[in-house]
Amino acid sequence: MASNTNNNGCVIETRGLTKSYKGFFWTKQKVSALNNLDLTVKKGEIFGLLGPNGSGKTTTVKLLLGLIFPTSGSVKILGKPSSDVKSKSRIGFLPEETYLYKFLNSYETLDFYGQLFNLPKTLRKERTDELLKLVGIASEGKRPLKQYSKGMLRRIGLAQALINDPELLILDEPTSGLDPMGARDMKDLILDMKNRGKTVFMCSHLLADVQDICDRVAILNKGTLQVIGTVQELISKNDTVEILARNLSKDALSEIERFIRDKKGEVVSVGNPTTTLEELFIKVVKASAK
Ligand SMILES: Nc1ncnc2c1ncn2[C@@H]1O[C@H](COP(=O)(O)OP(=O)(O)O)[C@@H](O)[C@H]1O
Ligand SMILES: [Mg+2]
Repeated sequence: MASNTNNNGCVIETRGLTKSYKGFFWTKQKVSALNNLDLTVKKGEIFGLLGPNGSGKTTTVKLLLGLIFPTSGSVKILGKPSSDVKSKSRIGFLPEETYLYKFLNSYETLDFYGQLFNLPKTLRKERTDELLKLVGIASEGKRPLKQYSKGMLRRIGLAQALINDPELLILDEPTSGLDPMGARDMKDLILDMKNRGKTVFMCSHLLADVQDICDRVAILNKGTLQVIGTVQELISKNDTVEILARNLSKDALSEIERFIRDKKGEVVSVGNPTTTLEELFIKVVKASAK
């Protein structure tokens, strides 16, 4: 098997990646979409790029895939520059919008994409059957895509991204337009991909997507990387200790609080655990907007 990483085990490596778009003809002002992005994604991890709308996530994805050229900086993907056509056959891509031919059914769609990758007929049939089962639309496989709901289109989009059995999956807003159940299914499918040894790079503006499944996270705002790390690293507060306990009586709780005060500690809050990635996200975005 071909080596799927470069020497330091990174599947994606960007250095000083910068993109500015030309302004429209009535304005000379350039749009600075991405500034000096340094990022590495390791083999086997799920990496999440988070950011508000317009922060440069899709621009980053297009640069990774070599669909647009950087103004400056470089991208290495599977150990090769993103302009290298050969590595494309080892990448699966789910675009932000599902662009599929609406008059084909799921079987025909996957067969078509399989042909683009030059897969032999028997392998195409095998993969199509397997993938439609995996994404849960085998029973609807014979209906034309124009009759599909948004959730079903997202699922067939993922199946299409997997037709070439890629090592690296790049997913742009994988849960976009999905209801909470559909989003959960999509997240489980992404975790399943990780368990099958694939590397996943996904971007999203939805915090729960990223918090639930990503090993590492980066937050982008106005084209600039703000923070990067594991979810745990980013949201843990080192000067504070959290103790989770069950079945405590009110009296016991008051006694514990008294004990903490006796020991010169401070009781910051007592209550049920809540999600805190949201807090970090808002803080980071607000701070970088100043
Ligand atoms: N083809 C383009 N021409 C000009 N500006 C663009 C183009 N594509 C994106 N932009 C601008 O670049 C910025 C980043 O966009 P994008 O990468 O799509 O953000 P995100 O995916 O995070 O919502 C935005 O200000 C957007 O308007
Ligand atoms: Mg986008």
